[in-house]
Amino acid sequence: MSLYSLAFLLCFSLICEPCVQAWSKEGHTMTCKIAQDLLKPEAAHAVKMLLPDNVNGDLSALCVWPDQVRHWYKYRWTSSLHFIDTPDKACSFNYQRDCHDSHGIKDMCVAGAIQNFTNQLSHYRHGTSDRRHNMTEALLFLAHFMGDIHQPIYVGFTSDEGGNTIDLRWFRHKSNLHHVSVGY
Ligand SMILES: *[C@@H]1O[C@H](CO)[C@@H](O)[C@H](O)[C@H]1NC(C)=O
Ligand SMILES: *[C@@H]1O[C@H](CO)[C@@H](O)[C@H](O)[C@H]1NC(C)=O
Repeated sequence: MSLYSLAFLLCFSLICEPCVQAWSKEGHTMTCKIAQDLLKPEAAHAVKMLLPDNVNGDLSALCVWPDQVRHWYKYRWTSSLHFIDTPDKACSFNYQRDCHDSHGIKDMCVAGAIQNFTNQLSHYRHGTSDRRHNMTEALLFLAHFMGDIHQPIYVGFTSDEGGNTIDLRWFRHKSNLHHVSVGY
């Protein structure tokens, strides 16, 4: 082992062991901070209007909200929107084939959700108020799901259940790939 890789491993173990538990929250917070800084003025204004007053215009403060509510009765319909399961060994994603929930209901996956909430928000931008949908929720879902779809473990084979069925050892502990990469 070279000195370089030893140094890398040391840094990795020192820095990353304590932060594993918080990866999910940290990951979403970072994604949203970066995204909000890149908004054009018109979009930045719309985001500020949609956020509740208590976060002082900081989108990242609410980017984990969809994870907090996904098991509540009212939001149970959103739980399949966090990921995509592809057929085992299919190393590709096909929207028609793969974007559905476990009951086969079409569009109920993270790619469908991104389209859905983008579409809802694009109408908000044009000033037509949408009485059927809550635009604040649409913004929080879109910001969160853009993070989820870029986390590799969220788009994977059906039988590995997002890495939950892939056992491994993490430092001295028995764990699984989902837990280690996502943090819960
Ligand atoms: C789109 O959002 C609405 C709520 O605003 C929801 O009822 C519907 O199930 C969503 N569909 C997808 C694919 O996200
Ligand atoms: C929209 O959703 C947010 C978050 O769930 C909620 O606090 C707010 O009251 C809702 N707004 C409307 C108009 O229902």
